[in-house]
Amino acid sequence: MRRKLAAGNWKMNGTRASLDEVRTLAAATSGARCEVLICPPATLLSRANEAAGTAPLRFGGQDCHADPSGARTGDISAEQLADAGARYVIVGHSERRTDHGETDAMVAAKALAARRAGLKAIICLGETLVEREAGQALAVIGRQLAGSVPDGAAGADTVIAYEPVWAIGTGLTPTPDQITEVHAALRAALLDRFGSGGWDFRLLYGGSVKPGNAAEIFALPEVDGALVGGASLKAADFLPIVAALSAAAAPVN
Ligand code: 13P
Repeated sequence: MRRKLAAGNWKMNGTRASLDEVRTLAAATSGARCEVLICPPATLLSRANEAAGTAPLRFGGQDCHADPSGARTGDISAEQLADAGARYVIVGHSERRTDHGETDAMVAAKALAARRAGLKAIICLGETLVEREAGQALAVIGRQLAGSVPDGAAGADTVIAYEPVWAIGTGLTPTPDQITEVHAALRAALLDRFGSGGWDFRLLYGGSVKPGNAAEIFALPEVDGALVGGASLKAADFLPIVAALSAAAAPVN
């Protein structure tokens, strides 16, 4: 059974005042049936971890360098994230691919760095609107998956997040059929490459997930959770999403 995962990506948002949101989330999600993760800016990782105390709320980084240490001004290694209390790291987010020219090979190297440091990698991929309208979505995603997921990856250390670029921060979401088609293609490609181990990778959907659409998305086959941007910044928005995923994870009587 794949444990469902509600992950929040705070991006370049949040200061110490945001730790109140962390405290609220920590208290309100301790009984959740899914795993709950917040990826705050690196400046807050250590304090967020302390603010959560013994609650099962987890924290992650938003990016890492492939190297463990060295002369890399402004970069952060996976080892440093782990030292600050991270359990996960997002790699290959489309904002990194676009703003920092990250290639699939660079993303794969970062995912390997995460594994070296004992972190789980959340590897992001997704097509642009131009690619979707050209009928290229599945081809693009297949190529990104092949190039960004390193050899030897396994469900225990790797999560895949499908984030269509055109759905991020826009309020637009793919249709249920479009999400289902992509997630089915991802699962098939993972099975093809990793054999039955391909079943173990969690597949998240990301892009304008909100309290109002979460339940519908979580009901789709092969959706093991969400990677949430804007709606993860406030506990009042993120908690209903966590509740929807918890409900989707409930045992059927
Ligand atoms: P939004 O939920 O704000 O669309 O962002 C999605 C995202 O990029 C999460 O990584």
